[in-house]
Amino acid sequence: MNEVLARGSDRSHDDQAKVEGAAALSDAHEHAPVHQPKRHDSAHLHVAGRAPYTDDLPEPPGTLHAYLGLSTIANGRIRAIDLEKVRRQPGVRAVITGDELSHNDASAWQIGDEPFLTTGKIDFLGQPIFMVIADSRKAARHACAHAHIQYDEEAPILTVDEARDAGGKTVIDGMTLERGDADAAIAGAPRKLTGSMLIGGQDHFYLEGQIAFAVPGEDGTMTVYSSTQHPSETQMLIAHTLHRPAAMVTVEVRRMGGAFGGKESQANLFAALAAFAADRLGVPIKIRPDRDDDMVATGKRHDFRADYEVGFDDDGRVHGVKFVYGARCGFSADLSGPVTDRALFHCDNAYYWPAVRAVSQPLFTNTVSNTAFRGFGGPQGMMGAERVIDEVAFATGLDPLEVRQRNFYGEGDRTTTPYHQQVEDFILPRIIDELLESSKYEHRRKALQEANRSARGFKRRGIALTPVKFGISFTATHLNQAGALVHVYTDGSIHLNHGGTEMGQGLNTKVAQVVAAVFGVPLEQVRITATSTGKVPNTSATAASSGADMNGMAAKIAAETIRQRLVDYAAEEHGVPAEQIAFRESNVLIGNREVLFSDLVKEAYAARIQLSSTGYYRTPKIHWDRASGKGHPFYYFAYGAAVAEVEIDTLTGEYTVERVDILHETGKSLNPAIDIGQIEGGFAQGMGWLTTEELVWDEKGRLRTHAPSTYKIPVASDMPREFNVRLADWARANEPTVFRSKAVGEPPFMLAMSVFHALSDAVASVAHHMIHPRLDAPATPERILMAVERLRAEAKTES
Ligand code: MTE
Ligand code: MOS
Repeated sequence: MNEVLARGSDRSHDDQAKVEGAAALSDAHEHAPVHQPKRHDSAHLHVAGRAPYTDDLPEPPGTLHAYLGLSTIANGRIRAIDLEKVRRQPGVRAVITGDELSHNDASAWQIGDEPFLTTGKIDFLGQPIFMVIADSRKAARHACAHAHIQYDEEAPILTVDEARDAGGKTVIDGMTLERGDADAAIAGAPRKLTGSMLIGGQDHFYLEGQIAFAVPGEDGTMTVYSSTQHPSETQMLIAHTLHRPAAMVTVEVRRMGGAFGGKESQANLFAALAAFAADRLGVPIKIRPDRDDDMVATGKRHDFRADYEVGFDDDGRVHGVKFVYGARCGFSADLSGPVTDRALFHCDNAYYWPAVRAVSQPLFTNTVSNTAFRGFGGPQGMMGAERVIDEVAFATGLDPLEVRQRNFYGEGDRTTTPYHQQVEDFILPRIIDELLESSKYEHRRKALQEANRSARGFKRRGIALTPVKFGISFTATHLNQAGALVHVYTDGSIHLNHGGTEMGQGLNTKVAQVVAAVFGVPLEQVRITATSTGKVPNTSATAASSGADMNGMAAKIAAETIRQRLVDYAAEEHGVPAEQIAFRESNVLIGNREVLFSDLVKEAYAARIQLSSTGYYRTPKIHWDRASGKGHPFYYFAYGAAVAEVEIDTLTGEYTVERVDILHETGKSLNPAIDIGQIEGGFAQGMGWLTTEELVWDEKGRLRTHAPSTYKIPVASDMPREFNVRLADWARANEPTVFRSKAVGEPPFMLAMSVFHALSDAVASVAHHMIHPRLDAPATPERILMAVERLRAEAKTES
């Protein structure tokens, strides 16, 4: 026996219980620190302002700054461009136009529909045309204002309606999901109705805006610090732009100050242009648009028009439904294909449609190219489903909740989605039951209706419960893969890297918990490092809520590989069966001996055991055929529900959210504290989308809401007066996900539909729930006021 183990055995007391424990550790113990409410790994840095973001990195001497010159028309061509005055501004070192980029293609899939810097054609107001490099950011920005550009201007196509009127040109082919004969089912149903709803877009309003910092290295290599959710794609676009192999380009991301989908593809342009300029001038280049330009020049959530036709009966059961989802995509494809696909994938939300046809129209418009945003089209799809249910409730006079429950997925043949995947894990009935109980929904609804009826003042209240069922996985099957890299150093400390990026969602903390659990060491022993294309290659965007699912699993596999080597070594070296070796509480039990993890590691190193490993994971079971509209695109579904109560002022349209109760599930949560944070944050962001965040373009295609002065995100005072958020702690993933946890990043966003429907309920009360308010989203105070007046007028003419 060697020295290390001898010391180890001193520490053990030949405790028989421990030996038995080694073979059969209890679940909770074995998985610590997983499932524990650990704080975000950077929380102490965040609150002290000491977490460095890209703009905080030290600038090497010689660093120059870039700024973009943007178009001032929405549609047309550049007739003449004169940048001489720009060049002559103080501090200006270079001016770069699109002609100088031999590879001028910012599109994610390199389909050539989106230049970095446009040369002839202008497709939206705010489109980048040239780039100024100067000594300071301020100098570069000011110089941009001196461009003299003449345009041949044409009328822009701005809205879904205008796009349809102009022939319905799309940026990519739409999709159809179909099951059964919806036309026949609607025709044969006792009752039917049709309607349409506008659903607004949303700016990401990440606190840290778009930014990239490119540092040229030796022999044509390039390192780019980028605020990107998708380092591998950013790397590829830089490589294309520089005409260099990807191996010469490294993209690194320590953290983002929020991303929300807005840096899934939109970061690429900034990173590639910074790299181009850095390569051209041979110095580090930083590029960071200010908030207004960021809002004008980068893509947002798609606004939609959802048209629906539904056949139903007096019991509130839907027989057949048809949807057409028209989306304002902007001028290029970007991620509009998968976004509009996901809208269709959620045209059912939690409801079984016996016969259904849903069609997407990803429409071309002369607006900024819209992109990923939390939920990725799912929220817009689900708003269609909830509107249909609400309409049926109004038409039948039933409680909307009753109608929701009657149409839920259920037993027998009521399990097939419009895309022919089976819903096998439907736990909403239990979630709803518990939520009804904890929120006292029935009681409060009655009391509130009573109060509305007898109200003499101007205030009316509304309440609504809405469910969420959200599909987890990238619908492009090949993206469902992830890699990780784990090193164990000879002092027992662990270096962790994986392909996911940290944007505040706590991904790094969760993945570190997983690795710590595998080695049975405290979380503090695992050091999380910046995401780098040089460490883990060919990664997918951190998106589709699958960051922890996939990278957690890849890291677990890497850590288990190393652990297995340690087990094999210890088993052989000490003649103990592998089953009697276990890792916990910084120790390793080897038969009846207990050694420090760090000591075993040292010993294994001396015995020349490899202490580093990669891990690779691909999500099983999923497949999808877009052409036939059939498959199994989602590994599983995530569920939740919310009850919201609001009060509106019928004189001004203003409202308050009085109380919100949420019950949401994340399987067996990897980290309940972080998950609750994601639920609260997602809900608040969803509430902003459906209430106050309104994007307004004027008839010229100019975005009039391009700063916090005109674009209102929710603030602390907008939060529900009473806000009860609970995890359904009994939930478990029905698939073997990482420690049976489920994704949490996006699903809670859609819990905010409850606020929208509560507002609709309050408005409806002014006409005694005889007329459906048919609110468009966002339900701004202005829209609420107009709806109240319209309903009062209609009620009068009817009576
Ligand atoms: N939470 C914070 N704090 N900041 C963000 O930018 N993005 C959301 C969500 N939660 C985001 C966030 C989006 S759009 C997604 S897809 C997921 O986090 C991505 O991370 P995950 O897959 O690790 O959950
Ligand atoms: Mo999230 S919209 O998938 O980045």
